[in-house]
Amino acid sequence: MQILPGFRDFYPLDMAKRNYLFSTLRRVVLSYGFVEVDGPTLESTDLYKRKGGGELMGQLYQFMDKGGREVTIRPEMTLTVARMAARSEKHYRKPMKWFSIGSFFRHERQQKGRLREFSQLNCDLIGEASFAADAELLALVIDCLRAFGLGPHDFVVRLSNRTAWLRFCQERGVRVDQMEEFLQEVDRMERYPMGETAKKFAKFGVSLREVHDFVESKDSTHFSEVLDELSARGLSEYVEVDLGIVRGLLYYTGTVFEVFDQKKCLRAIAGGGRYDQLISSVSNGRVILPAIGFGIGDVVLGELIETVPVAAEKMHTALASQPGCEVFVVIAEENRRKQALRLVQLLREEGKSVDFSLGVIRIEKQFRRAQQLRAQYLVVVGREWPQVKFQRSAFHEASVCSYEKLAEHLKTDHPVAPNEVSNL
Ligand code: HAM
Repeated sequence: MQILPGFRDFYPLDMAKRNYLFSTLRRVVLSYGFVEVDGPTLESTDLYKRKGGGELMGQLYQFMDKGGREVTIRPEMTLTVARMAARSEKHYRKPMKWFSIGSFFRHERQQKGRLREFSQLNCDLIGEASFAADAELLALVIDCLRAFGLGPHDFVVRLSNRTAWLRFCQERGVRVDQMEEFLQEVDRMERYPMGETAKKFAKFGVSLREVHDFVESKDSTHFSEVLDELSARGLSEYVEVDLGIVRGLLYYTGTVFEVFDQKKCLRAIAGGGRYDQLISSVSNGRVILPAIGFGIGDVVLGELIETVPVAAEKMHTALASQPGCEVFVVIAEENRRKQALRLVQLLREEGKSVDFSLGVIRIEKQFRRAQQLRAQYLVVVGREWPQVKFQRSAFHEASVCSYEKLAEHLKTDHPVAPNEVSNL
């Protein structure tokens, strides 16, 4: 009966919430002209070992398959997207705007906002190196969150740039082969006590003060074009320059960002950035394409929505107004069950969602069940067969028509012609 730590069961309400999240996100990304892709859940471990690295390496669900291959259940999507782009980019016009929704697996310590299986929406814009692409992606992540009724008081995009950090490293003599390790320490800086972090930076010949001063400088050299474009879209209030963001994944090159709740109670809601060398690296230099993307996870997004009353109400209203079943067929006479089944089948073939009682139960109970399912129409099969009674919700009068004509009446939902139907 026990579920593994960090994994979730999705009962109907949980599933409805997850569907609400991803159908809302899907609507927004489609409005930005993104098209859906997907890749395999299992990849060669080598893909992550050689290209992804960083914090992910200690979190992989990896094993040897029966063919003796080292494989990994995907911990993220970007390496898969890079591999897919490298394999067949020539078939697609640039920029390629790809999105996907899927499950990912990381052997992380289970905590609030962090699980071992989670879902992500990933959006990637491939083949465009300009700041316009960065701004488009940032606008998209902002609009994704605004679609839930979240505003600038609820979340902020913290914008940074890895190029600025590389320059910082060069100016302070951090060796090229140490830079990734140094950036990992910057990424982890907020999680450890200052003394410990200072010792780690000292290894690279950099003081904690230098790092703090750089973060505080809010040097805007790398951000002006992006910020201008966001301002033109009326979205600048959602973005804040924060050089403290470097991202834990090794493949990022220029612009990087993370999205946080304004109350600073939750883990990152989304994260992403530019990875201009990854496709080249995955294809051993054969394909050179710049790219930028982000991932939004369902766990923290769900937590944030529940804590913002406007967003929570919007979600619960959407869940409550989901259509129930369209037609509930009430079997008033048990000896008419076969005819009822014929009608159920007919209506389903017409594309209606239809339910009925599988067991023999009292007619009142069947009506109650129809109510629980929020059925739009009640159809009663009884001794009048091949005529059936039908009723549009409790507020409408019941009518009678031939079962063969029923689908047509329900489809048009017109007031029914008197020669075909007689009121009860
Ligand atoms: P990431 O920052 O590792 O980036 O993940 C993006 C988001 O996924 C996080 O902000 C968080 O909401 C969610 N997430 C990550 N790990 C977990 C976890 N263990 N439990 C729950 N949620 C989690 C990436 O994955 C990049 N591949 C994103 C990207 C796409 N970059 C470019 N394109």
